Amino acid sequence: MIKDIPIRIRATQSDLELQERVQWFRQQPGCQWAANENDLDSLPELKVSRRGVELLFNQERITFHPSMALIRAMNILGGSSDRFLAAAQLGLGDFFLDATLGLASDSLIAALAVGDHGRVLGLEKSPILAVVMQDGLKHFGEHSFNVKTEPKKQAWLSLVQAARRIEVQWADHGEFLSHCPSESFDVIYFDPMFRKTFHESASIQPLHQWSEHSPLDLQTVREACRVARKRVVLKERKDSAEFKRLGFDVLPGGRYSSVDYGVILV
Ligand SMILES: C[S@@+](CC[C@H](N)C(=O)[O-])C[C@H]1O[C@@H](n2cnc3c(N)ncnc32)[C@H](O)[C@@H]1O
Repeated sequence: MIKDIPIRIRATQSDLELQERVQWFRQQPGCQWAANENDLDSLPELKVSRRGVELLFNQERITFHPSMALIRAMNILGGSSDRFLAAAQLGLGDFFLDATLGLASDSLIAALAVGDHGRVLGLEKSPILAVVMQDGLKHFGEHSFNVKTEPKKQAWLSLVQAARRIEVQWADHGEFLSHCPSESFDVIYFDPMFRKTFHESASIQPLHQWSEHSPLDLQTVREACRVARKRVVLKERKDSAEFKRLGFDVLPGGRYSSVDYGVILV
């Protein structure tokens, strides 16, 4: 995970709204900002524009974009199954902890499943990823998207509602869980960066340089079993030894997929 490199932050226009958004970023804990937007060109840049926020570094670009979640939401609303939801078994009104927020796609799908009375908390160890996703979820409804067909429009609107149920926190999940009272969440979910990255999906690839790669810790899984009311879920590479090491039962399915889901019922 990139640490201790200051990030230049720049609004593309000088209007008040964008300036306030820049100020909001500067006030968030954990990120180290360059003092001056004209600081070294070699530094990472957070570009704040009316079209959204982009984190640019080493030819990679990270932005909040619900495209992956949108396809999944269309399928779910159209009656198809989703392997993540089949593993998480979320009910209306549930409180879901996404212990590895990343690009927030799974959090959006969980927020869709828990409905108006449910809640999602997403934890992210990288402070810059946490704030980019928090900002993206907050401003999601303001952007138009290429939503020409009716099913896509319905999925888009459902995700805009779902985004409002997600809270984001910059935290290490092990540390966070150790302070949680028992049975605080219905379902807790881990989707750590895969140990071997050759099968990494294109959507996760840009996360690489900014994200935390350390393996999921057994003590953290034990804490999750104490803090969850219903189940703890792990997504990992197919045939990963992590399921056995951490005590998860692998669910059947996904014959042609490169990932599997494991569950611990608590
Ligand atoms: C594979 S990505 C998750 C992708 C996510 N499920 C999605 O739908 O976009 C894993 C994320 O978990 C974060 N992470 C890894 N270890 C963590 C920890 N100890 N605490 C909080 N976040 C962590 C990484 O920084 C990374 O952003």
